[in-house]
Amino acid sequence: ALVIHRKMKKSGRWVKAMEILKEFEEKCGTPILKLRQVADAMIVEMHAGLASEGGSKLKMLISYVDNLPTGDEEGLFYALDLGGTNFRVLRVQLGGRNRGIVNQQFEEVSIPPSRMTGTSDALFDYVAATLARFVAQEGSVFKPSPGRQRELGFTFSFPVVQSSIASGTLLKWTKGFSIDDTVGQDVVAELAKAMERRGLDMRIAALVNDTVGTLAGGRYNDNNVVASVILGTGSNAAYVECAHAIPKWHGLLPKSGQMVINMEWGNFRSSHLPLTEYDHALDAESLNPGEQIYEKVISGMYLGEIVRRVLCRMAEEAAFFGGTVPPKLKEPFVLGTPVMSSMHRDTSPDLKISNTSLKMRKAIVELCNIVATRGARLSAAGVLAILKKMGRDTVKEGEKQKTAIAMDGGLYEHYTEYCNCFKDTLNELLGEEVSKTIMIEHSNDGSGIGAALLAASQSQYLELYEP
Ligand code: GLC
Repeated sequence: ALVIHRKMKKSGRWVKAMEILKEFEEKCGTPILKLRQVADAMIVEMHAGLASEGGSKLKMLISYVDNLPTGDEEGLFYALDLGGTNFRVLRVQLGGRNRGIVNQQFEEVSIPPSRMTGTSDALFDYVAATLARFVAQEGSVFKPSPGRQRELGFTFSFPVVQSSIASGTLLKWTKGFSIDDTVGQDVVAELAKAMERRGLDMRIAALVNDTVGTLAGGRYNDNNVVASVILGTGSNAAYVECAHAIPKWHGLLPKSGQMVINMEWGNFRSSHLPLTEYDHALDAESLNPGEQIYEKVISGMYLGEIVRRVLCRMAEEAAFFGGTVPPKLKEPFVLGTPVMSSMHRDTSPDLKISNTSLKMRKAIVELCNIVATRGARLSAAGVLAILKKMGRDTVKEGEKQKTAIAMDGGLYEHYTEYCNCFKDTLNELLGEEVSKTIMIEHSNDGSGIGAALLAASQSQYLELYEP
């Protein structure tokens, strides 16, 4: 009788755990109609953000990039890419017309967590020191022009209100960064001061968001690139807007008639987003409560954490892992998205990746799938919004216009299930005929190279080439 009683208790718990999972799944639903509503709500916010400064949660930041790389860029340029858990420094030798990138080298360094939440000087000193070391190893393969100051493109992947191509103040930190004394400061001046303290003589020629860098890098390789999307630690998009469609722009109309807009779409929110109690709790306990709501359901920094929160509930209320809740599971952010992705991907017949019973592992795969699917489908809705805003969501009779979108970021690159779901959903939203005209291209480290390319087009020595 005791055995039967135990078994009944166990199956009762299992039923309860499955109820929690089922309820979560229902709340995460993203039927096509909902995705269209999300896209339309985003378009409304895009207009509002372009109309006036502070007009919307979508900042629609003016990048001051009104010309994208053409292929004529020439010379040795540096880039520094700061924005996630790692930062990169790179140098590229640009060959000029039709020669492309002749040579490139990069170095990736992880940022100690203490520098992500300390002081502005501590962060920028660390960055400048790494850059100085890297510059010192230039060697003879690279050819700096004699007598010229070295020039740098600075990719800084946070919301910045720019006042020119090479200056801008930080609005707020996002992702895991939180350094109060940088907010409201010109980040180019912060970096320049740190470089000076290091004795590094270099001119910061361009300040760009990673989306803008990716767009520039993408365009260098493919003339059809008109937008870019980052699906990584954070998420964001940029696209080429008509200058006259930006009422808040009071400067001269650029010759090209165009301006690249950094949407900062991570901060989008709408009543159409399928948010659950787990998302609300995650947001409330995050470094930036109430901010970056869209980012918190679609990007790499948060997906694993959502899974952890649901598992925690299943452990607490349905003894999913037996009598006690594994203490580790209670630690925020212990379950990273790379781990989630490998649990999700586990196709071995006995799902060996986590040390639990087969039935449980199937439930965990299901949970990962729910979270990844919701994120991927919602990010596809964001791309639909951009295409609609640009008028590229339909095919006009007799027109052969192709549209390419440059993509980058760890989620896109490494989380295959997420990436495939994103692409499938976009095709589903666009329909077969339009899908054929839209190309989704991976721009590998486009953001760093893009920044170097933009530095080249902003070079102080440029007039020397002019006839
Ligand atoms: C965050 C940042 C944004 C960046 C994105 C991807 O959303 O605010 O500037 O582009 O992450 O790195």
